[in-house]
Amino acid sequence: MREKVGRNDPCWCGSGKKYKKCHMREDEAKGGPPAEAQQTVFKGNVTSLPPVPGHIARPEYADTGRPTPTRESCLKTSDDEIARMRKACDVARQVLDTVLAAVEPGITTEALDDLAYAKTIELGAYPSPFNYQNYPRCICTSINEVVCHGIPDDRVLSEGEIVNCDISVYVNGMHGDCSETVFVGEVSPEAKRLVDSTYECMMDAIKLVEPGQPFFAIGRAIEERAKQDGYSVVRDFTGHGIGKYFHMDPQVLHYFSPRLNQRMEPGMTFTIEPMINEGTWRCRIWPDNWTAVTGDLKLSAQFEHTVLVTESGYEILTAGDDLTPWFRR
Ligand code: MF3
Ligand code: CO
Repeated sequence: MREKVGRNDPCWCGSGKKYKKCHMREDEAKGGPPAEAQQTVFKGNVTSLPPVPGHIARPEYADTGRPTPTRESCLKTSDDEIARMRKACDVARQVLDTVLAAVEPGITTEALDDLAYAKTIELGAYPSPFNYQNYPRCICTSINEVVCHGIPDDRVLSEGEIVNCDISVYVNGMHGDCSETVFVGEVSPEAKRLVDSTYECMMDAIKLVEPGQPFFAIGRAIEERAKQDGYSVVRDFTGHGIGKYFHMDPQVLHYFSPRLNQRMEPGMTFTIEPMINEGTWRCRIWPDNWTAVTGDLKLSAQFEHTVLVTESGYEILTAGDDLTPWFRR
């Protein structure tokens, strides 16, 4: 299934140079990637999108590419804000379901993005990633060793691969954000075990959400299960508060840090989106400045929900009617 990368093959980093002219020496000096590590995803052609129709309300960065720098808290103080948040998360879920239903061998990630674009606009929403720090498309599609922020392109999905589709939308003045990893056709038992464990890591963390809980409990739970299953937790990307802005305070670490001692309060809305790796937790970023891949090119999986802290616990805002993840349906 996975091809061997030779000295004369294109480098894993997407530079277009031969591996021996690019990262081969550096990799050897670091003792990695190990012999069995094989790049399966290469930089493809990214097509630019038509502008979002004028009647759709736009987030602040839509024209400039620059989100407002903010440390504003994700705490929602009115029922109206929470209702608008539910709506945005519901739209994100509908778009995610549309995309995941279309995943099959032979489809390109760009075709998945086209579906997301059409569905998002049909539902009156703006695709949050579009032009966020100049991101060129609507969704992120992260295949196999890609940890996150894979840009949809003309690459075709093949039987045996895993792909995370990450959807965020802006509607009613709020952002909603969710993702799932699914199988492309039949996949190996190793891939199944990773995806299963990653989902359980996220759910373990979600179940802890309640007023008074310190944010470090999230990372502690995720790290504990990942370790038990023999996996590592990505540290370079985090969950985040969400609402009027795409990324708000607090930062939600997926590994344990006692410094994260802020406590959850009713009305907070944030994402939990652990990325779990088969091998090293370290990541590398392609020269496209987005695509993050595992340092050893082994598999990575991710799930994401947006949650609300309620008086008694939590509500998963991006659950839709059926919480069952697609890989188990
Ligand atoms: N869920 C991802 C995040 O919060 C979505 C990234 S969209 C991108 O980071 F535009 F930043 F790529
Ligand atoms: Co997110």
